[in-house]
Amino acid sequence: MTRSILILNGPNLNLLGTRQPEVYGPTTLADIEAMCYRKAKVLGIEIVFAQSNHEGALIDTLHAARGVHDGIVLNAGAYTHTSVALMDAISSIMLPVVELHLSNIHAREEFRRTSFIAPVAIGQICGFGAAGYPLAMDALLSYFGETE
Ligand code: DQA
Repeated sequence: MTRSILILNGPNLNLLGTRQPEVYGPTTLADIEAMCYRKAKVLGIEIVFAQSNHEGALIDTLHAARGVHDGIVLNAGAYTHTSVALMDAISSIMLPVVELHLSNIHAREEFRRTSFIAPVAIGQICGFGAAGYPLAMDALLSYFGETE
Protein backbone atom coordinates (compact mmCIF):
# COMPACT_ATOMS: atom_id res chain seq x y z
CA MET A 1 0.00 0.00 0.00
CA THR A 2 1.44 3.37 -1.02
CA ARG A 3 1.57 5.77 1.88
CA SER A 4 0.10 9.22 1.42
CA ILE A 5 1.11 12.34 3.33
CA LEU A 6 -0.63 15.71 3.41
CA ILE A 7 1.78 18.64 3.74
CA LEU A 8 -0.28 21.56 4.97
CA ASN A 9 0.90 25.14 5.30
CA GLY A 10 -0.83 27.98 7.11
CA PRO A 11 -0.98 31.76 6.91
CA ASN A 12 1.68 33.89 5.22
CA LEU A 13 3.72 30.89 4.10
CA ASN A 14 2.65 31.67 0.52
CA LEU A 15 4.98 34.68 0.83
CA LEU A 16 8.11 32.64 1.62
CA GLY A 17 11.12 33.85 -0.32
CA THR A 18 10.21 37.51 0.10
CA ARG A 19 8.81 37.34 3.65
CA GLN A 20 11.49 38.15 6.26
CA PRO A 21 14.19 36.14 4.42
CA GLU A 22 16.56 36.77 7.34
CA VAL A 23 14.22 34.63 9.47
CA TYR A 24 12.68 32.19 6.98
CA GLY A 25 15.36 31.98 4.28
CA PRO A 26 15.27 32.64 0.53
CA THR A 27 13.35 29.51 -0.47
CA THR A 28 9.85 29.99 -1.89
CA LEU A 29 6.90 27.76 -1.05
CA ALA A 30 6.96 26.53 -4.67
CA ASP A 31 10.63 25.53 -4.17
CA ILE A 32 9.65 23.67 -0.99
CA GLU A 33 6.77 21.95 -2.78
CA ALA A 34 9.17 20.78 -5.53
CA MET A 35 11.60 19.57 -2.85
CA CYS A 36 8.81 17.59 -1.17
CA TYR A 37 7.76 15.96 -4.45
CA ARG A 38 11.39 14.93 -5.14
CA LYS A 39 11.62 13.49 -1.62
CA ALA A 40 8.30 11.66 -2.06
CA LYS A 41 9.62 10.02 -5.24
CA VAL A 42 12.72 8.81 -3.37
CA LEU A 43 10.58 7.49 -0.51
CA GLY A 44 8.03 5.91 -2.87
CA ILE A 45 5.09 7.71 -1.29
CA GLU A 46 2.35 10.07 -2.47
CA ILE A 47 1.96 13.59 -1.19
CA VAL A 48 -0.52 16.41 -1.45
CA PHE A 49 0.90 19.89 -0.79
CA ALA A 50 -1.48 22.67 0.26
CA GLN A 51 -1.51 26.16 1.77
CA SER A 52 -4.22 28.45 3.13
CA ASN A 53 -4.29 31.76 4.95
CA HIS A 54 -7.64 30.85 6.54
CA GLU A 55 -8.09 28.95 9.79
CA GLY A 56 -11.42 27.37 8.75
CA ALA A 57 -10.00 26.24 5.41
CA LEU A 58 -7.08 24.59 7.22
CA ILE A 59 -9.56 22.81 9.51
CA ASP A 60 -11.63 21.66 6.51
CA THR A 61 -8.47 20.32 4.85
CA LEU A 62 -7.52 18.44 8.05
CA HIS A 63 -11.02 16.89 8.23
CA ALA A 64 -10.85 15.89 4.55
CA ALA A 65 -7.57 14.06 5.19
CA ARG A 66 -9.42 11.29 7.04
CA GLY A 67 -9.45 8.10 4.98
CA VAL A 68 -7.28 9.77 2.31
CA HIS A 69 -3.88 10.35 3.92
CA ASP A 70 -1.86 8.33 6.42
CA GLY A 71 -0.24 11.29 8.12
CA ILE A 72 0.21 15.04 8.02
CA VAL A 73 3.09 17.51 8.12
CA LEU A 74 1.65 20.76 9.44
CA ASN A 75 3.25 24.18 9.44
CA ALA A 76 0.37 26.10 10.96
CA GLY A 77 2.29 29.41 10.92
CA ALA A 78 1.02 31.89 13.51
CA TYR A 79 -2.11 29.76 14.15
CA THR A 80 0.29 27.45 15.99
CA HIS A 81 0.33 29.94 18.83
CA THR A 82 -3.37 30.84 18.90
CA SER A 83 -5.65 28.15 17.53
CA VAL A 84 -7.52 25.87 19.91
CA ALA A 85 -9.71 25.05 16.88
CA LEU A 86 -6.74 23.60 14.96
CA MET A 87 -5.69 21.66 18.05
CA ASP A 88 -9.21 20.22 18.37
CA ALA A 89 -9.27 19.36 14.66
CA ILE A 90 -6.04 17.37 15.01
CA SER A 91 -7.41 15.61 18.11
CA SER A 92 -10.55 14.71 16.16
CA ILE A 93 -9.07 13.22 12.98
CA MET A 94 -6.97 10.46 14.54
CA LEU A 95 -4.08 10.92 12.11
CA PRO A 96 -0.41 11.39 13.09
CA VAL A 97 0.70 15.00 12.70
CA VAL A 98 4.27 16.28 12.66
CA GLU A 99 4.44 19.93 13.70
CA LEU A 100 6.89 21.83 11.53
CA HIS A 101 8.43 25.31 11.56
CA LEU A 102 11.18 26.75 9.42
CA SER A 103 12.45 28.93 12.25
CA ASN A 104 13.37 27.82 15.76
CA ILE A 105 10.21 29.01 17.52
CA HIS A 106 11.88 28.46 20.92
CA ALA A 107 14.64 30.96 20.16
CA ARG A 108 12.35 33.83 19.13
CA GLU A 109 9.70 35.92 20.88
CA GLU A 110 8.21 34.44 24.05
CA PHE A 111 4.72 34.07 22.49
CA ARG A 112 6.09 31.70 19.83
CA ARG A 113 7.12 29.21 22.53
CA THR A 114 3.47 28.37 23.12
CA SER A 115 2.18 25.81 20.64
CA PHE A 116 -1.40 24.54 20.57
CA ILE A 117 -0.23 21.95 18.04
CA ALA A 118 2.55 20.37 20.12
CA PRO A 119 0.31 18.54 22.66
CA VAL A 120 -1.58 16.76 19.85
CA ALA A 121 1.36 16.18 17.46
CA ILE A 122 3.57 13.11 17.45
CA GLY A 123 6.58 15.44 17.40
CA GLN A 124 7.95 18.80 16.39
CA ILE A 125 10.68 19.81 13.93
CA CYS A 126 11.81 23.43 13.92
CA GLY A 127 14.82 25.55 13.14
CA PHE A 128 16.14 23.76 10.05
CA GLY A 129 14.58 26.05 7.44
CA ALA A 130 13.19 24.44 4.30
CA ALA A 131 15.19 21.27 5.05
CA GLY A 132 12.68 20.62 7.84
CA TYR A 133 10.06 19.51 5.30
CA PRO A 134 11.90 16.40 4.05
CA LEU A 135 12.99 15.75 7.64
CA ALA A 136 9.33 15.77 8.71
CA MET A 137 8.48 13.34 5.91
CA ASP A 138 11.25 11.01 7.15
CA ALA A 139 9.89 11.35 10.68
CA LEU A 140 6.41 10.27 9.59
CA LEU A 141 7.75 7.26 7.67
CA SER A 142 9.79 6.26 10.70
CA TYR A 143 6.61 6.58 12.81
CA PHE A 144 4.67 4.38 10.34
CA GLY A 145 7.44 1.75 10.53
CA GLU A 146 7.32 1.71 14.29
CA THR A 147 3.56 1.52 14.49
CA GLU A 148 3.05 -1.27 11.92
C1 DQA B 1 6.55 29.59 11.43
C2 DQA B 1 6.79 30.17 12.84
C3 DQA B 1 5.57 30.94 13.32
O1 DQA B 1 5.84 31.49 14.61
C4 DQA B 1 5.25 32.07 12.37
O2 DQA B 1 4.09 32.74 12.79
C5 DQA B 1 5.14 31.62 10.97
C6 DQA B 1 6.12 30.67 10.47
C7 DQA B 1 7.83 28.93 10.88
O3 DQA B 1 7.72 28.16 9.92
O4 DQA B 1 8.93 29.23 11.36
O5 DQA B 1 4.28 32.08 10.21
O6 DQA B 1 5.55 28.59 11.53
